Amino acid sequence: MLIHLIAAARPNFMKIAPLFHALKKEDWTTPVIVHTGQHYDLNMSDAFFEDLGLPEPDLHLGVGSGTHAEQTGQVMIAYEKVLLEKKPDLVIVVGDVNSTVACALATSKIAYLCSTQNPELRTQNLQRRRPLVAHLEAGLRSFDRTMPEEINRLLTDALADILWTPSRDADENLMREGVSPKKIHRVGNIMIDSLEMLRERIKDQAAYNDFGLEPGDYGVITLHRPSNVDDQEVLKQICHTFMRMSRKIPLIFPIHPRTRKNLEQNRLLSSLKRSPGLHPVEPLNYMRFMNLIFNCRLAITDSGGIQEETTYLGIPCLTMRPNTERPITIRQGTNQLCNPENLEAKVEGILSGEITQSAIPELWDGKTATRVVKSIRKLTAPQ
Ligand code: UD1
Repeated sequence: MLIHLIAAARPNFMKIAPLFHALKKEDWTTPVIVHTGQHYDLNMSDAFFEDLGLPEPDLHLGVGSGTHAEQTGQVMIAYEKVLLEKKPDLVIVVGDVNSTVACALATSKIAYLCSTQNPELRTQNLQRRRPLVAHLEAGLRSFDRTMPEEINRLLTDALADILWTPSRDADENLMREGVSPKKIHRVGNIMIDSLEMLRERIKDQAAYNDFGLEPGDYGVITLHRPSNVDDQEVLKQICHTFMRMSRKIPLIFPIHPRTRKNLEQNRLLSSLKRSPGLHPVEPLNYMRFMNLIFNCRLAITDSGGIQEETTYLGIPCLTMRPNTERPITIRQGTNQLCNPENLEAKVEGILSGEITQSAIPELWDGKTATRVVKSIRKLTAPQ
């Protein structure tokens, strides 16, 4: 069975890696990595392949950046050609980026002719068929359609034949949307597999030394959502809050390319660099970044994955968003929503020892890839 794993942007690499490694051990399948090229900088892509032990992608679509329609359209056009040539049996898309919906849509409309053996007639027949589409991390909803990722999630889940979910709330969202329960399979959180796969090597990094900091004495910031970084006034307000807070606790801020561009345009980057206690740096590779998270006092973020990783590790997380598609990290984990107005008070609460209850959600155990492999075997076995 030929399986395509679609990799596109930074958060995808941690989701395909454990599955690629698990599938590679099986003799009934050939997993192939297709990189759309949505993220292309060394520190946004190659460094992650290296840390996660992934080989060079088998196929690279080289699409790069663009508007939403340009990026989505170009991935569709490029991937359709690959589908027609390579004829995979199963296409696995992960997460919620533009390439996820683009490849799901191209796959669900493709039809290629292939020969099949008709055992009764003992003849070769030509049959039209298309690969199955499977979505890993299905069913998450922020119920906020101003987020491009929410549109990508809704459309991908409407198209997928197999929906692998991380938690019960995701199953419920899908069923509310009319998805047949037969298509929904709860497998757990695949990001935790990557974390567990590399836990010992992450622990060895001591990345905080680069900043002259000690474990437990600093916070980590990540910020890249258009709603936080594309509007000049919003970005300015957030940066001023960070500069005030860094007097109370040192803050390490690996800066995403989208954010860097906007900070430079608004002449905010130099102010951040001058601010004592603030450490703006280039994006870090997976192991060094995770080492900073393992050892931080708190994280301030608008990323999806970091909400999950901090919940799993029991580290306080402040999510700079009005909503989250991962409510389990608030209900069960260490996550709280915040905004530029209340961020400082929430940081002070954490520093003064206010504790958020925390429990690790069910099936976030580092064994999700194994459950996905079993699920593929079961769902694609001849009837
Ligand atoms: C994308 C995803 C988002 C995910 C994020 C993680 C969508 C709609 N968004 O957002 O869900 O959380 O990735 O990073 O798919 N750029 C570079 N180098 C790169 C990649 C991007 O300089 O390697 C620049 C581009 O020129 C572009 C900007 O960063 O201007 C944004 O990149 P893009 O892939 O469009 O979206 P992200 O904001 O990264």
